[in-house]
Amino acid sequence: MAVGIFDSGLGGLTVWDAVHRRLPDLPLVYFADSAHAPYGVRDGEDVHRLTRAAVERIWEEGVDLVILACNTASAVALRRIQEEGLPPGKRVLGVFVPLIEALTERKWGDNSPPREVAVKHVALFATPATVASRAFQRELAFRAIGVDVEAQACGGVVDAIEEGDEILAEALVRSHVEALKRKMPHPQAAVLGCTHYPLLADVFQEALGRDVKVFSQASLVAESLADYLRRHPDMLGAGDESRFLSTGDAARVGDRATQFLRRKITFQPA
Ligand code: DGL
Repeated sequence: MAVGIFDSGLGGLTVWDAVHRRLPDLPLVYFADSAHAPYGVRDGEDVHRLTRAAVERIWEEGVDLVILACNTASAVALRRIQEEGLPPGKRVLGVFVPLIEALTERKWGDNSPPREVAVKHVALFATPATVASRAFQRELAFRAIGVDVEAQACGGVVDAIEEGDEILAEALVRSHVEALKRKMPHPQAAVLGCTHYPLLADVFQEALGRDVKVFSQASLVAESLADYLRRHPDMLGAGDESRFLSTGDAARVGDRATQFLRRKITFQPA
């Protein structure tokens, strides 16, 4: 009955953690494509090829449903993967929609026309590839009107997190927030549009100021996954083992994961 969670590296563990808290009995197969991280500086073709290969590998673990806990893959590769057609009974979902539903105060599957919402000025922090895709603005436009989005591509942050260099990661976050504020001095809300960034949520919040509402995906995705599985119990795959797989150096990735989640995480080679 396993579900798969995919990220280029450690960021998706923020989603894994929230899903595990929300659905503690659900076996999860976590896959980190550490050998190819970061995805955020790759071109669309590359992100699609790598994401597709990872999803196919996760299916081999007795998984039918894979969550792309990676905004870059969700923004750049998900639509193409779905359009290419999936094997019968297999499903791939991204992490954008739950976040945008929360921001636009919508319930799951509310397809009514776009309308005005309370938040008017939104700062989006994401990888260069996610920002370039404009997927966030596109999905938002289906649901809300009159929202001004200023996007900041946060180069270097994912590499610093993957390298375990928290000091560099924090310094980069502060400088990206400064850069954003030069373009949009008073955002009402900020979206952490990369699953690595909630690991630094406090730094974002402090640099933005307490009056800015910071949206991060982990708990929103966990809640919508719980809801999805209630409505689609058939999407629980045959696998019954929780595993952490990495295409990189499994021992090293496990150490970093343990450091970030502050609990023992053991990875195996993918
Ligand atoms: N954590 C991912 C995301 O949400 C990937 C970042 C990367 O590999 O650059 O975009």
